[in-house]
Amino acid sequence: MSINSFIEPFKIKSVEPIFVTTLEQREQYMKEAHYNPFLLHSKHVMIDLLTDSGTSAMSSEQWAGIMRGDESYAGAQSWERLETELKDLTGYPFIIPTHQGRAAERILYGYLGGKGKTFISNTHFDTTRANIEFSGAEAFDIPCIEAKDLSSDYPFKGNMDTTKLEELIIKTGVSNIGAVILTVTNNTGGGQPVSMENAKAVDSICKKHQVLFIIDCCRIAENAYFIRNKEKGYEHKSYREIAQEMFALADGCAMSAKKDALVNMGGFLALKNEELATACTNLLIITEGFATYGGLSGRDMEAMAIGLREVFEEDYLHYRIMSTTYLGEQLKAKGVPVLYPIGGHAVYVDAGALYAHIPTDQYPGQALVCELYKLGGIRAVEIGSVMFGKYDDNGKLIPSPMELVRLALPRRVYTKSHLDYIIEVFDKIVNNKANTKGVKITYEPKFLRHFTAHFELL
Ligand code: F0G
Repeated sequence: MSINSFIEPFKIKSVEPIFVTTLEQREQYMKEAHYNPFLLHSKHVMIDLLTDSGTSAMSSEQWAGIMRGDESYAGAQSWERLETELKDLTGYPFIIPTHQGRAAERILYGYLGGKGKTFISNTHFDTTRANIEFSGAEAFDIPCIEAKDLSSDYPFKGNMDTTKLEELIIKTGVSNIGAVILTVTNNTGGGQPVSMENAKAVDSICKKHQVLFIIDCCRIAENAYFIRNKEKGYEHKSYREIAQEMFALADGCAMSAKKDALVNMGGFLALKNEELATACTNLLIITEGFATYGGLSGRDMEAMAIGLREVFEEDYLHYRIMSTTYLGEQLKAKGVPVLYPIGGHAVYVDAGALYAHIPTDQYPGQALVCELYKLGGIRAVEIGSVMFGKYDDNGKLIPSPMELVRLALPRRVYTKSHLDYIIEVFDKIVNNKANTKGVKITYEPKFLRHFTAHFELL
Protein backbone atom coordinates (compact mmCIF):
# COMPACT_ATOMS: atom_id res chain seq x y z
CA MET A 1 0.00 0.00 0.00
CA SER A 2 1.27 3.50 -0.75
CA ILE A 3 1.77 5.91 2.11
CA ASN A 4 -1.32 7.87 1.13
CA SER A 5 -3.67 4.92 1.32
CA PHE A 6 -4.68 4.80 4.92
CA ILE A 7 -7.70 6.00 6.80
CA GLU A 8 -8.32 6.31 10.51
CA PRO A 9 -9.88 2.89 11.24
CA PHE A 10 -12.33 4.36 13.77
CA LYS A 11 -15.28 6.73 14.03
CA ILE A 12 -15.24 9.54 16.56
CA LYS A 13 -17.80 9.13 19.36
CA SER A 14 -16.59 11.71 21.82
CA VAL A 15 -14.61 14.87 21.07
CA GLU A 16 -12.44 17.25 23.01
CA PRO A 17 -12.21 20.86 21.79
CA ILE A 18 -9.06 22.42 20.39
CA PHE A 19 -9.03 26.16 21.09
CA VAL A 20 -7.81 28.00 18.02
CA THR A 21 -5.39 30.79 18.95
CA THR A 22 -3.95 33.71 17.00
CA LEU A 23 -0.29 34.40 16.31
CA GLU A 24 -0.39 37.38 18.72
CA GLN A 25 -1.91 35.26 21.52
CA ARG A 26 0.69 32.55 21.00
CA GLU A 27 3.54 35.06 21.12
CA GLN A 28 2.17 36.22 24.46
CA TYR A 29 1.65 32.68 25.84
CA MET A 30 5.14 31.63 24.76
CA LYS A 31 6.64 34.69 26.45
CA GLU A 32 4.72 33.88 29.66
CA ALA A 33 6.04 30.30 29.44
CA HIS A 34 9.63 31.63 29.14
CA TYR A 35 9.90 30.05 25.68
CA ASN A 36 9.75 26.56 27.20
CA PRO A 37 6.80 24.49 25.87
CA PHE A 38 6.78 22.36 29.05
CA LEU A 39 5.57 25.51 30.84
CA LEU A 40 2.62 26.17 28.49
CA HIS A 41 -0.99 25.53 29.54
CA SER A 42 -2.29 22.62 27.45
CA LYS A 43 -5.44 24.62 26.60
CA HIS A 44 -3.17 27.02 24.72
CA VAL A 45 -1.75 24.20 22.58
CA MET A 46 -3.52 23.34 19.31
CA ILE A 47 -1.64 20.17 18.34
CA ASP A 48 0.24 18.50 21.18
CA LEU A 49 3.18 16.41 19.97
CA LEU A 50 5.11 16.56 23.24
CA THR A 51 4.78 12.80 23.79
CA ASP A 52 2.99 9.64 22.71
CA SER A 53 3.03 8.49 26.34
CA GLY A 54 -0.28 8.34 28.19
CA THR A 55 -1.91 10.47 25.51
CA SER A 56 -3.80 7.75 23.61
CA ALA A 57 -7.54 7.89 22.95
CA MET A 58 -9.24 4.84 24.44
CA SER A 59 -11.81 2.83 22.48
CA SER A 60 -15.48 2.40 23.38
CA GLU A 61 -14.57 -1.14 24.47
CA GLN A 62 -11.92 0.20 26.84
CA TRP A 63 -14.37 2.73 28.30
CA ALA A 64 -16.86 -0.10 28.77
CA GLY A 65 -14.07 -1.99 30.55
CA ILE A 66 -13.56 1.02 32.84
CA MET A 67 -17.14 0.52 34.08
CA ARG A 68 -16.47 -3.19 34.65
CA GLY A 69 -13.32 -2.50 36.70
CA ASP A 70 -13.24 -4.59 39.88
CA GLU A 71 -11.72 -2.46 42.63
CA SER A 72 -11.16 -5.26 45.16
CA TYR A 73 -7.87 -4.92 47.01
CA ALA A 74 -6.78 -8.51 46.40
CA GLY A 75 -7.53 -10.97 43.62
CA ALA A 76 -9.72 -8.57 41.61
CA GLN A 77 -11.31 -9.93 38.42
CA SER A 78 -9.70 -7.07 36.48
CA TRP A 79 -6.29 -8.21 37.71
CA GLU A 80 -7.03 -11.78 36.71
CA ARG A 81 -8.06 -10.64 33.26
CA LEU A 82 -4.87 -8.56 32.86
CA GLU A 83 -2.65 -11.32 34.21
CA THR A 84 -4.16 -13.89 31.82
CA GLU A 85 -3.74 -11.50 28.89
CA LEU A 86 -0.12 -10.72 29.75
CA LYS A 87 0.86 -14.36 30.34
CA ASP A 88 -0.63 -15.23 26.98
CA LEU A 89 1.02 -12.32 25.16
CA THR A 90 4.49 -12.55 26.70
CA GLY A 91 4.68 -16.23 27.54
CA TYR A 92 6.25 -15.26 30.90
CA PRO A 93 4.68 -16.89 33.97
CA PHE A 94 5.19 -14.06 36.49
CA ILE A 95 3.40 -10.73 36.05
CA ILE A 96 3.97 -7.71 38.29
CA PRO A 97 1.71 -4.66 37.74
CA THR A 98 3.10 -1.15 38.30
CA HIS A 99 1.69 2.35 37.91
CA GLN A 100 3.98 3.21 34.97
CA GLY A 101 7.17 2.18 33.20
CA ARG A 102 9.70 3.80 35.47
CA ALA A 103 8.19 2.11 38.54
CA ALA A 104 8.83 -1.26 36.87
CA GLU A 105 12.37 -0.09 36.05
CA ARG A 106 13.07 1.10 39.57
CA ILE A 107 12.05 -2.26 41.00
CA LEU A 108 13.87 -4.49 38.50
CA TYR A 109 17.01 -2.45 37.88
CA GLY A 110 17.19 -1.30 41.49
CA TYR A 111 17.27 -4.98 42.48
CA LEU A 112 19.69 -6.11 39.78
CA GLY A 113 21.84 -2.98 39.97
CA GLY A 114 24.06 -1.44 42.62
CA LYS A 115 27.69 -0.38 42.66
CA GLY A 116 29.94 -2.36 40.32
CA LYS A 117 27.09 -3.56 38.08
CA THR A 118 26.84 -2.77 34.37
CA PHE A 119 23.78 -2.62 32.11
CA ILE A 120 24.03 -2.69 28.33
CA SER A 121 21.36 -1.54 25.87
CA ASN A 122 20.85 -0.52 22.24
CA THR A 123 19.92 2.77 23.94
CA HIS A 124 18.63 3.19 27.49
CA PHE A 125 15.65 5.52 27.72
CA ASP A 126 16.35 8.42 30.18
CA THR A 127 14.28 6.93 33.04
CA THR A 128 15.91 3.52 32.49
CA ARG A 129 19.36 5.07 32.67
CA ALA A 130 18.36 7.22 35.66
CA ASN A 131 17.10 4.21 37.63
CA ILE A 132 20.23 2.21 36.81
CA GLU A 133 22.59 5.05 37.73
CA PHE A 134 20.58 5.87 40.86
CA SER A 135 21.27 2.31 42.05
CA GLY A 136 25.01 2.99 41.67
CA ALA A 137 25.37 0.91 38.49
CA GLU A 138 26.60 1.98 35.06
CA ALA A 139 24.62 2.05 31.80
CA PHE A 140 26.24 1.63 28.35
CA ASP A 141 24.51 2.37 25.06
CA ILE A 142 25.68 0.38 22.04
CA PRO A 143 23.44 1.26 19.08
CA CYS A 144 24.34 -0.35 15.75
CA ILE A 145 26.79 1.46 13.45
CA GLU A 146 24.05 2.12 10.85
CA ALA A 147 22.23 4.34 13.38
CA LYS A 148 24.96 6.98 13.01
CA ASP A 149 23.91 7.83 9.45
CA LEU A 150 20.75 9.93 9.86
CA SER A 151 19.75 9.82 6.20
CA SER A 152 20.43 6.27 4.90
CA ASP A 153 17.40 4.03 4.46
CA TYR A 154 18.72 1.09 6.52
CA PRO A 155 15.47 -0.36 7.92
CA PHE A 156 16.54 -1.43 11.43
CA LYS A 157 18.56 1.42 12.90
CA GLY A 158 17.20 0.49 16.34
CA ASN A 159 19.45 -2.60 16.43
CA MET A 160 22.12 -3.25 19.04
CA ASP A 161 25.77 -3.58 18.01
CA THR A 162 26.21 -7.28 18.82
CA THR A 163 29.97 -7.30 18.25
CA LYS A 164 30.35 -4.64 20.91
CA LEU A 165 27.88 -6.49 23.14
CA GLU A 166 30.05 -9.58 23.29
CA GLU A 167 33.23 -7.52 23.77
CA LEU A 168 31.63 -5.55 26.61
CA ILE A 169 30.33 -8.65 28.38
CA ILE A 170 33.79 -10.25 28.24
CA LYS A 171 35.54 -7.04 29.31
CA THR A 172 33.12 -6.39 32.19
CA GLY A 173 32.93 -9.99 33.40
CA VAL A 174 29.65 -11.90 33.45
CA SER A 175 29.12 -11.57 37.20
CA ASN A 176 29.17 -7.78 36.90
CA ILE A 177 26.43 -7.56 34.27
CA GLY A 178 23.06 -6.47 35.68
CA ALA A 179 21.16 -7.10 32.45
CA VAL A 180 21.18 -6.56 28.71
CA ILE A 181 18.18 -4.41 27.74
CA LEU A 182 16.78 -4.29 24.21
CA THR A 183 14.52 -1.25 23.79
CA VAL A 184 11.93 -1.85 21.04
CA THR A 185 11.41 0.42 19.25
CA ASN A 186 14.47 2.43 20.17
CA ASN A 187 12.87 5.68 21.41
CA THR A 188 16.02 7.66 22.13
CA GLY A 189 17.52 6.41 18.86
CA GLY A 190 14.72 7.97 16.79
CA GLY A 191 11.89 5.47 17.35
CA GLN A 192 13.76 3.10 15.02
CA PRO A 193 12.81 -0.59 14.98
CA VAL A 194 14.88 -3.61 16.02
CA SER A 195 14.92 -6.63 13.69
CA MET A 196 14.12 -10.14 14.86
CA GLU A 197 17.53 -11.18 13.54
CA ASN A 198 19.16 -8.69 15.91
CA ALA A 199 17.00 -9.79 18.87
CA LYS A 200 18.02 -13.40 18.14
CA ALA A 201 21.70 -12.45 18.00
CA VAL A 202 21.41 -10.59 21.33
CA ASP A 203 19.65 -13.62 22.80
CA SER A 204 22.30 -16.09 21.71
CA ILE A 205 25.12 -13.92 23.14
CA CYS A 206 23.21 -13.56 26.42
CA LYS A 207 22.54 -17.32 26.59
CA LYS A 208 26.17 -18.15 25.75
CA HIS A 209 27.43 -15.97 28.61
CA GLN A 210 24.40 -16.61 30.86
CA VAL A 211 23.46 -12.98 31.35
CA LEU A 212 19.92 -11.74 31.84
CA PHE A 213 18.15 -10.45 28.71
CA ILE A 214 15.25 -7.99 29.25
CA ILE A 215 13.08 -6.32 26.61
CA ASP A 216 11.81 -2.77 27.14
CA CYS A 217 8.62 -3.48 25.22
CA CYS A 218 6.78 -0.10 25.36
CA ARG A 219 6.37 -0.05 21.59
CA ILE A 220 6.63 -3.76 20.68
CA ALA A 221 3.48 -3.72 18.52
CA GLU A 222 4.87 -0.86 16.43
CA ASN A 223 8.16 -2.75 16.20
CA ALA A 224 6.29 -5.87 14.97
CA TYR A 225 4.80 -3.81 12.13
CA PHE A 226 8.27 -2.99 10.83
CA ILE A 227 9.43 -6.60 11.14
CA ARG A 228 6.50 -7.93 9.13
CA ASN A 229 6.87 -5.28 6.46
CA LYS A 230 10.66 -5.09 6.20
CA GLU A 231 12.22 -8.35 7.39
CA LYS A 232 12.30 -11.47 5.25
CA GLY A 233 10.29 -14.43 6.48
CA TYR A 234 7.73 -12.48 8.53
CA GLU A 235 5.34 -11.43 5.74
CA HIS A 236 2.71 -14.00 6.72
CA LYS A 237 2.89 -13.82 10.51
CA SER A 238 0.45 -11.80 12.59
CA TYR A 239 1.82 -8.82 14.53
CA ARG A 240 0.98 -10.54 17.80
CA GLU A 241 2.85 -13.70 16.75
CA ILE A 242 5.89 -11.58 15.87
CA ALA A 243 5.81 -9.92 19.30
CA GLN A 244 5.43 -13.34 20.93
CA GLU A 245 8.43 -14.68 19.02
CA MET A 246 10.50 -11.77 20.33
CA PHE A 247 9.29 -12.17 23.93
CA ALA A 248 10.19 -15.87 23.77
CA LEU A 249 13.85 -14.97 23.25
CA ALA A 250 14.24 -12.95 26.47
CA ASP A 251 14.10 -13.59 30.21
CA GLY A 252 11.50 -10.92 30.83
CA CYS A 253 10.23 -7.48 29.93
CA ALA A 254 9.42 -4.09 31.41
CA MET A 255 6.64 -2.05 29.88
CA SER A 256 5.28 1.44 30.12
CA ALA A 257 1.68 0.62 29.15
CA LYS A 258 1.20 4.33 28.40
CA LYS A 259 2.41 3.58 24.88
CA ASP A 260 1.39 0.38 23.10
CA ALA A 261 -1.19 -0.72 25.69
CA LEU A 262 -3.29 2.28 24.58
CA VAL A 263 -3.98 3.51 28.13
CA ASN A 264 -3.32 6.77 29.93
CA MET A 265 -1.56 5.19 32.90
CA GLY A 266 -0.01 1.80 33.62
CA GLY A 267 2.96 -0.51 33.38
CA PHE A 268 4.23 -3.95 34.32
CA LEU A 269 7.12 -6.35 34.65
CA ALA A 270 6.84 -9.88 33.26
CA LEU A 271 9.51 -12.43 34.16
CA LYS A 272 10.50 -16.04 33.54
CA ASN A 273 12.45 -16.61 36.71
CA GLU A 274 10.48 -17.26 39.91
CA GLU A 275 13.19 -16.18 42.33
CA LEU A 276 13.67 -12.85 40.57
CA ALA A 277 9.90 -12.35 40.34
CA THR A 278 9.48 -12.99 44.08
CA ALA A 279 12.21 -10.45 44.92
CA CYS A 280 10.54 -7.87 42.66
CA THR A 281 7.08 -8.57 44.11
CA ASN A 282 8.43 -7.99 47.62
CA LEU A 283 9.79 -4.60 46.52
CA LEU A 284 6.51 -3.84 44.72
CA ILE A 285 4.52 -4.21 47.92
CA ILE A 286 6.69 -1.66 49.73
CA THR A 287 6.14 1.19 47.28
CA GLU A 288 3.56 0.38 44.60
CA GLY A 289 0.87 -1.76 46.20
CA PHE A 290 -0.26 -5.34 46.68
CA ALA A 291 0.84 -7.92 44.11
CA THR A 292 -2.55 -8.00 42.36
CA TYR A 293 -2.80 -4.31 41.57
CA GLY A 294 0.65 -2.66 41.82
CA GLY A 295 -0.08 1.04 41.52
CA LEU A 296 -3.21 0.53 39.44
CA SER A 297 -6.94 0.68 40.00
CA GLY A 298 -9.04 -2.23 38.72
CA ARG A 299 -10.43 -0.13 35.88
CA ASP A 300 -6.90 0.75 34.69
CA MET A 301 -6.04 -2.95 34.51
CA GLU A 302 -9.25 -3.71 32.60
CA ALA A 303 -8.50 -0.98 30.03
CA MET A 304 -4.91 -2.19 29.68
CA ALA A 305 -5.96 -5.81 29.01
CA ILE A 306 -8.28 -4.60 26.24
CA GLY A 307 -5.76 -2.11 24.80
CA LEU A 308 -3.11 -4.83 24.51
CA ARG A 309 -5.46 -6.77 22.19
CA GLU A 310 -6.49 -3.75 20.13
CA VAL A 311 -2.94 -2.55 19.52
CA PHE A 312 -2.11 -5.64 17.44
CA GLU A 313 -5.10 -5.21 15.10
CA GLU A 314 -3.95 -5.04 11.48
CA ASP A 315 -5.90 -1.94 10.48
CA TYR A 316 -4.91 -0.04 13.61
CA LEU A 317 -1.18 -0.72 13.21
CA HIS A 318 -1.26 0.13 9.52
CA TYR A 319 -2.98 3.45 10.25
CA ARG A 320 -0.60 4.10 13.14
CA ILE A 321 2.68 3.58 11.29
CA MET A 322 1.43 5.06 8.03
CA SER A 323 0.40 8.27 9.86
CA THR A 324 3.91 8.75 11.17
CA THR A 325 5.39 7.80 7.79
CA TYR A 326 3.05 10.19 5.98
CA LEU A 327 4.01 13.10 8.20
CA GLY A 328 7.73 12.32 7.92
CA GLU A 329 7.78 11.72 4.16
CA GLN A 330 5.82 14.90 3.46
CA LEU A 331 8.22 16.94 5.59
CA LYS A 332 11.18 15.32 3.86
CA ALA A 333 9.70 16.16 0.45
CA LYS A 334 9.57 19.82 1.54
CA GLY A 335 13.26 19.77 2.33
CA VAL A 336 12.88 19.49 6.11
CA PRO A 337 15.81 17.33 7.30
CA VAL A 338 14.29 14.36 9.15
CA LEU A 339 15.85 11.33 10.73
CA TYR A 340 15.37 8.58 8.15
CA PRO A 341 13.69 6.15 7.69
CA ILE A 342 10.69 7.45 9.63
CA GLY A 343 10.26 5.60 12.94
CA GLY A 344 7.15 4.30 14.65
CA HIS A 345 5.84 6.83 17.14
CA ALA A 346 7.48 10.08 16.11
CA VAL A 347 9.17 12.10 13.42
CA TYR A 348 12.55 13.48 14.49
CA VAL A 349 13.56 16.72 12.78
CA ASP A 350 17.27 17.52 12.54
CA ALA A 351 17.10 21.14 13.75
CA GLY A 352 20.90 21.41 13.62
CA ALA A 353 20.73 20.87 9.84
CA LEU A 354 17.57 22.95 9.34
CA TYR A 355 19.07 25.92 11.17
CA ALA A 356 22.71 25.43 10.19
CA HIS A 357 23.23 29.18 10.86
CA ILE A 358 22.34 28.85 14.57
CA PRO A 359 25.33 27.76 16.71
CA THR A 360 24.77 24.88 19.14
CA ASP A 361 25.15 27.18 22.16
CA GLN A 362 22.14 29.08 20.84
CA TYR A 363 20.12 25.86 20.77
CA PRO A 364 18.69 25.35 17.24
CA GLY A 365 16.27 22.68 18.53
CA GLN A 366 14.75 25.07 21.07
CA ALA A 367 14.48 27.70 18.32
CA LEU A 368 12.47 25.23 16.21
CA VAL A 369 10.24 24.27 19.12
CA CYS A 370 9.47 28.01 19.64
CA GLU A 371 8.75 28.54 15.93
CA LEU A 372 6.41 25.53 15.84
CA TYR A 373 4.41 26.96 18.69
CA LYS A 374 4.44 30.54 17.46
CA LEU A 375 3.49 29.77 13.86
CA GLY A 376 1.11 26.87 14.45
CA GLY A 377 0.29 26.34 18.13
CA ILE A 378 2.15 23.00 17.85
CA ARG A 379 4.00 21.72 20.91
CA ALA A 380 7.05 19.51 20.40
CA VAL A 381 10.11 18.60 22.45
CA GLU A 382 13.76 19.48 21.93
CA ILE A 383 16.08 16.46 22.10
CA GLY A 384 19.43 18.15 21.74
CA SER A 385 21.77 20.34 23.75
CA VAL A 386 19.03 21.73 26.01
CA MET A 387 18.15 18.19 27.10
CA PHE A 388 21.59 16.56 27.00
CA GLY A 389 24.13 19.41 26.92
CA LYS A 390 26.66 19.64 29.74
CA TYR A 391 29.22 22.30 30.73
CA ASP A 392 32.99 21.89 30.95
CA ASP A 393 35.02 23.30 33.86
CA ASN A 394 35.13 26.71 32.16
CA GLY A 395 31.36 26.82 31.77
CA LYS A 396 31.56 26.17 28.03
CA LEU A 397 28.75 24.06 26.56
CA ILE A 398 29.59 20.47 25.60
CA PRO A 399 26.80 20.00 23.05
CA SER A 400 24.74 16.88 22.50
CA PRO A 401 25.85 14.92 19.38
CA MET A 402 22.55 15.79 17.66
CA GLU A 403 20.12 18.75 17.75
CA LEU A 404 16.79 17.01 17.23
CA VAL A 405 13.16 17.95 17.73
CA ARG A 406 10.69 15.12 18.29
CA LEU A 407 7.17 15.29 16.87
CA ALA A 408 5.55 12.42 18.80
CA LEU A 409 2.11 11.32 17.65
CA PRO A 410 -0.43 10.37 20.33
CA ARG A 411 -2.30 7.17 19.35
CA ARG A 412 -5.76 7.48 17.74
CA VAL A 413 -5.94 11.20 18.64
CA TYR A 414 -5.19 13.22 15.51
CA THR A 415 -6.59 12.72 12.00
CA LYS A 416 -4.84 13.06 8.67
CA SER A 417 -6.22 16.60 8.45
CA HIS A 418 -4.34 17.50 11.62
CA LEU A 419 -1.20 16.05 10.03
CA ASP A 420 -1.77 18.18 6.92
CA TYR A 421 -2.01 21.21 9.19
CA ILE A 422 1.37 20.36 10.76
CA ILE A 423 2.85 19.96 7.26
CA GLU A 424 1.49 23.43 6.29
CA VAL A 425 3.04 24.98 9.39
CA PHE A 426 6.39 23.56 8.30
CA ASP A 427 6.01 25.50 5.02
CA LYS A 428 6.02 28.67 7.08
CA ILE A 429 8.96 27.41 9.14
CA VAL A 430 11.03 26.69 6.04
CA ASN A 431 10.10 30.09 4.53
CA ASN A 432 11.10 31.87 7.71
CA LYS A 433 14.29 29.81 8.19
CA ALA A 434 16.82 32.55 7.44
CA ASN A 435 15.14 34.97 9.90
CA THR A 436 14.96 32.46 12.74
CA LYS A 437 17.38 33.14 15.56
CA GLY A 438 18.60 31.06 18.46
CA VAL A 439 17.77 31.31 22.16
CA LYS A 440 19.63 32.05 25.37
CA ILE A 441 19.10 30.28 28.70
CA THR A 442 18.18 32.74 31.48
CA TYR A 443 17.45 30.19 34.23
CA GLU A 444 18.28 26.50 34.60
CA PRO A 445 18.04 23.98 37.42
CA LYS A 446 20.94 21.61 38.11
CA PHE A 447 19.24 18.41 36.91
CA LEU A 448 16.89 17.68 33.98
CA ARG A 449 17.00 21.34 33.03
CA HIS A 450 14.83 21.02 29.91
CA PHE A 451 11.64 20.65 31.97
CA THR A 452 11.83 23.96 33.79
CA ALA A 453 14.54 26.11 32.17
CA HIS A 454 13.70 29.67 31.06
CA PHE A 455 14.82 31.11 27.72
CA GLU A 456 14.94 34.39 25.86
CA LEU A 457 14.82 34.80 22.09
CA LEU A 458 18.01 36.28 20.65
N1 F0G B 1 11.08 3.12 28.31
C1 F0G B 1 10.89 3.80 27.16
C2 F0G B 1 11.48 3.26 25.89
C3 F0G B 1 10.14 4.98 27.16
O1 F0G B 1 9.94 5.63 26.01
C4 F0G B 1 9.58 5.45 28.38
C5 F0G B 1 8.82 6.69 28.43
C6 F0G B 1 9.81 4.70 29.55
C7 F0G B 1 10.58 3.54 29.48
C8 F0G B 1 9.31 5.15 30.89
O2 F0G B 1 7.95 4.95 30.99
O3 F0G B 1 6.98 7.23 31.33
O4 F0G B 1 5.68 5.16 31.88
O5 F0G B 1 7.57 5.85 33.29
N2 F0G B 1 8.78 7.54 27.48
C9 F0G B 1 8.00 8.78 27.44
C10 F0G B 1 8.36 9.56 26.20
C11 F0G B 1 8.04 9.58 28.68
O6 F0G B 1 7.87 10.70 26.06
O7 F0G B 1 9.08 9.06 25.35
P1 F0G B 1 7.00 5.86 31.92
